[in-house]
Amino acid sequence: MFSKYKKPSSKVIETDGAAPALKAVPDDAADKVSMRKPMPRRAAEVTGVDKEKRRKERLQEIKLELHKSLLDNLNLAALETASEADLRAEINAIASESLQEMGVVLNREERTTLSQDLFFEVTGLGPLETLLQDDTVNDILVNGPQQVFVERAGKLMLSDVTFKDEKHLLRIIDKIVSAVGRRVDESNPYVDARLQDGSRFNAMVPPVAVDGSLVSIRKFKKDKLGIDDLVKFGAFTEEMAAYLQAAVATRLNVIVSGGTGSGKTTTLNALSSFIDNSERILTIEDTAELQLQQIHVGRMESRPPNVEGKGEVSPRDCLKNALRMRPDRIIVGETRGEEVIDMLQAMNTGHDGSMTTIHANNPRDGIARLENMIAMAGIEMPLKAVRSQISSAVNLIVQASRLQDGSRRMTSITEITGMEGEVISMQEVFRYQRVGLTPDNKIIGHFTATGVRSAYSDRFKLWGYDLPPAIFEPMVAE
Ligand SMILES: Nc1ncnc2c1ncn2[C@@H]1O[C@H](COP(=O)(O)OP(=O)(O)OP(=O)(O)O)[C@@H](O)[C@H]1O
Ligand SMILES: [Mg+2]
Repeated sequence: MFSKYKKPSSKVIETDGAAPALKAVPDDAADKVSMRKPMPRRAAEVTGVDKEKRRKERLQEIKLELHKSLLDNLNLAALETASEADLRAEINAIASESLQEMGVVLNREERTTLSQDLFFEVTGLGPLETLLQDDTVNDILVNGPQQVFVERAGKLMLSDVTFKDEKHLLRIIDKIVSAVGRRVDESNPYVDARLQDGSRFNAMVPPVAVDGSLVSIRKFKKDKLGIDDLVKFGAFTEEMAAYLQAAVATRLNVIVSGGTGSGKTTTLNALSSFIDNSERILTIEDTAELQLQQIHVGRMESRPPNVEGKGEVSPRDCLKNALRMRPDRIIVGETRGEEVIDMLQAMNTGHDGSMTTIHANNPRDGIARLENMIAMAGIEMPLKAVRSQISSAVNLIVQASRLQDGSRRMTSITEITGMEGEVISMQEVFRYQRVGLTPDNKIIGHFTATGVRSAYSDRFKLWGYDLPPAIFEPMVAE
């Protein structure tokens, strides 16, 4: 019945008649099985933990063997069109026959786990699949086949997921990148891709990756954290949210600055919710992550060159083109190269209310980053002119940080107020004040206004955002 998914192969031993012809074990499998040591039966001597560990190891061994025979015998081309139920049935049938041949008896729970794992191996991303489906996991970081770290609630921890060997890991990487028409090998050792579910994927393979392939996955969240969630999680306060709402709605140009994984994209996405539904928004990203709620959104994804080095569409290309597409606002996922020129120009010339993120550890560094990017783009302009460009383009820098206890907070909201001589002047309006550490290394601190009056108060008022003065009063220490 399911033989359409099976490769026509001499290794498949047909059984009679209508019953599924499912002997999918390679010819030499029987030899392999007989060579294996029998399971130790000294139950009384082994502790429960040992037993459990061995059982797991044994299950892993069996799974790998079955997986190999599945891959050898399933017709992968036919899998594309197979329904999930058919495929699961096929896999179960092959598995149970192989198990029988190997003389292995599994309990019901083991059988269920096994067939689930095999299903993931065949259709999905193998060992990574359980982590991808685990909603508590934010990031998956693979350091070679034997070490897979995950980030949960801001904390990195080693998972119990492993790959059989480097070849197994490479096969999964290859599956991911070939699905998006890319290639990764010795001559082309690193690659960016997007998984089917939208997750961001990067891999680097040996020999550049010294101890086995390195993979990083930023999981795509179907429901991005909104302003309310972020306030609830303590990323910033309601007062700060009210200020940010006024800033975005009155079309200030905002840069979200932050380190890797500090929550820049999440913040940008949340801020975008303050944009009016009637505006035409264009987004430009390397990997489309933003999920804007507005109805009038045009999304663009830049593209690296293909294997022959052709076909690149850089963020700058997208940005230049976006300017011809009559946007009200432009949102660039991350500014990291020469597109900075066009971004600043857009911010200066009628596309106010635009937003982007940059990689920097504090607002002052953020400005320095912008200056560097301009210099690297080969623009020969006196520093003062560069700075005045920046200061008239950017109104607000919002700093996202991942603190050492794993919590993510908006550690500063800083306004750019102009130039003083050669220097860009800035004023911090809100900040996160750290005051100490609990015995279990949780950071103690609070958000506070700094007491300065916002340089945009009048603008906010004119646009109908009359923020109560109390918002800007600093918190008094108790
Ligand atoms: N305040 C928060 N509380 C809890 N989780 C958060 C918070 N902000 C972001 N996250 C989660 O942290 C992860 C990283 O966030 P995000 O992708 O926004 O970071 P990033 O700074 O854009 O990272 P990168 O530098 O890799 O682009 C995401 O899974 C996101 O859901
Ligand atoms: Mg990001």
